Parts: sequence; C-alpha cells; structure tokens
Amino acid sequence: ACNIGPPNPTRRTERQRLCDVKGVPLISSMHEIFGRVEKFQAKADDVLIATYPKAGTTWMIEIVDSIRQGGITKEIKTIPSHERAPYLEMNSQDMIPSGLDLLEAMPSPRLVKTHLPFQLVPPSFWDKGCKVIYVARNAKDVLVSYYFFQKTFIGLPNTGTWDDFFESFLSGNVECGSWFDHVTGWWDVREKHQILYVFYEDILQDPTGEVERVACFLGHTLDKGTIQEIVKHTSFNMMKDNPMTNASTMSTSVLDLSISPFMRKGQVGDWKNHFTVAQNERFEEEYRRRMAKTSLRFRTEL
Ligand code: A3P
Repeated sequence: ACNIGPPNPTRRTERQRLCDVKGVPLISSMHEIFGRVEKFQAKADDVLIATYPKAGTTWMIEIVDSIRQGGITKEIKTIPSHERAPYLEMNSQDMIPSGLDLLEAMPSPRLVKTHLPFQLVPPSFWDKGCKVIYVARNAKDVLVSYYFFQKTFIGLPNTGTWDDFFESFLSGNVECGSWFDHVTGWWDVREKHQILYVFYEDILQDPTGEVERVACFLGHTLDKGTIQEIVKHTSFNMMKDNPMTNASTMSTSVLDLSISPFMRKGQVGDWKNHFTVAQNERFEEEYRRRMAKTSLRFRTEL
C-alpha cells in the first residue's frame, strides 16, 4: 500500500515516490487513481498505443493520429500530442486533467496512450477487441533516454547518479518496472489480441515501410503522397521543432526542458556515449539471463 502523495492532486510539482501496483512500481499519483483506471470502459474503435517509457511513444502517436486523420490536419497542427492521445493511467498534474477525465470528454475515435505492462491494461480493451500498437526499443537506448527524461519530469523520483539509475533500471526499480518483463510480456500475447508489435529501430531505418504497415493494420489505405507527408511530418527534426510534439507546451513545473530536451537525440546507439565498459559487460550478462527464453530480438545499432 502507498498513501504518500501531495495533498492537492491538481498541483503535483514535487517528485513522487514509487508505489507497488499489483507487483509493478508506479508513481504514487497513479497508485491513487488505479482503481478507476482498471474500470475504464474502452470502445471498439479506440486505438491503444502501448510502450515502455522512452520507446518512441510520442512518435507512434503522431504517426497513428496522422494516419487516422488521413494526413496532417489542422487538429494535428494545433493541438498538443498529449491532448490528442490522453495518457490513460496519468492522474491530474499541475493544471492538466487526468487521462481518464480527458478520455471521457473526448469524441470517438479515440487514441489512448499507456505505459502499463500487458497484465495491468484494463480488461475492457480486450473485451472490445481494440487494436493495439506496441512500440519496443532496445534496452540500452531506453535506459539512457529514461535517465535524461526522469531528470526533467518532476513527477518521477530523483534519478540519483548515472550509476544509481543504471542499477535501478536493471533491477526494474523504476516507474513501470522491468523493461525485460514489459517487452516480453507484450511479445508473448501479440498473437492472442489485435496487437501490432513495432520496433523503434525499424521505424528509424524504414519509416515509409513502417508507416504503411501501421496504416494497413489500422485498415487505412493512403496514397503515396499522404504517406510521404506523414513520414516527413513525423521525422525527428520536424517533431523536435514542433511545439505540438516536443512537449514545450507543458508547464515547466511538470517538465523542466532546460535540463534536457524531450526530443533529445532520436538515434540508435547513443548508449555507447554513456555506458562504461564494465557497465556494458554487466548489462550484457543480465540481458542474456533475462532474455534467454524469448524469441524477441533487438538491434542496438543501425
Ligand atoms: P532520445 O531520448 O533517445 O532522444 P517517448 O515518446 O516514448 O517518451 O520516447 C522519447 C524518445 O523517442 C526520445 O529518445 C525521443 O528523441 C525519441 N523520438 C521521438 N520522436 C522521434 C522521431 N520522430 N524520430 C526518432 N526518435 C524520436
């Protein structure tokens, strides 16, 4: 149980602690709202974008929203990403309403973002047969991206030093728990439900092919010009300079982008600039142990 949290849920400008939610560490404000999250009523035309944090969530949201809207509409150009795809389990913070409240007020078809591991997703998504796109990214780059993001996002606990965070990540003692459990948990069920499992590294290498694959999965046929327009709009450089996707519309009391930009590098292999040789060896050893039984494979360089 966890009962520590800021007294006023509409103003969360302090670092939160992690609480156990059915075996998964989530921040205290999510622990508070989780009873409502479990009862969320999905609709058949909801599309869920599920990821472990820092796997390319915002990127996939932009791709899916552009596909569903048939191109880069005024809505896409003028409404921040976090309002077009509410974050299911996020409680209200600063002046932003909870994901549940945003979703309730949203007309269909809705886009829903979640970082929940498969077993914590509200059952109504499966009862309604919703389509889900899961984006996975290699663990080493996720770790680096997560470290910088956690420093900027005030709602998350302090990172500690790089070495501290490295150990926390490997042991799954970070928000959303173990990367290993998350990516393999979703991998194992991908054929039981309507789940498209996509790799960050593949989108980077072949954006046109991956946008087409996502469009096909969602049942949209788009002409080549529209596909190219979407590929351009969702490129790293465009999203980095776009206030609707680079998180610059968020209050600095929630996200302090002076520490690190949200669109930080957008590359494969940045881990090489941060891991020591000893850390890499330790990581590889743990990786082999944890991934021994799965057919899931990642690339750590392109
Ligand atoms: P880096 O910190 O490695 O740069 P999420 O949206 O899940 O929080 O993931 C954020 C990560 O995805 C960041 O990684 C960000 O730069 C990267 N990202 C976002 N949009 C991208 C794009 N269009 N192309 C490549 N990477 C992108």
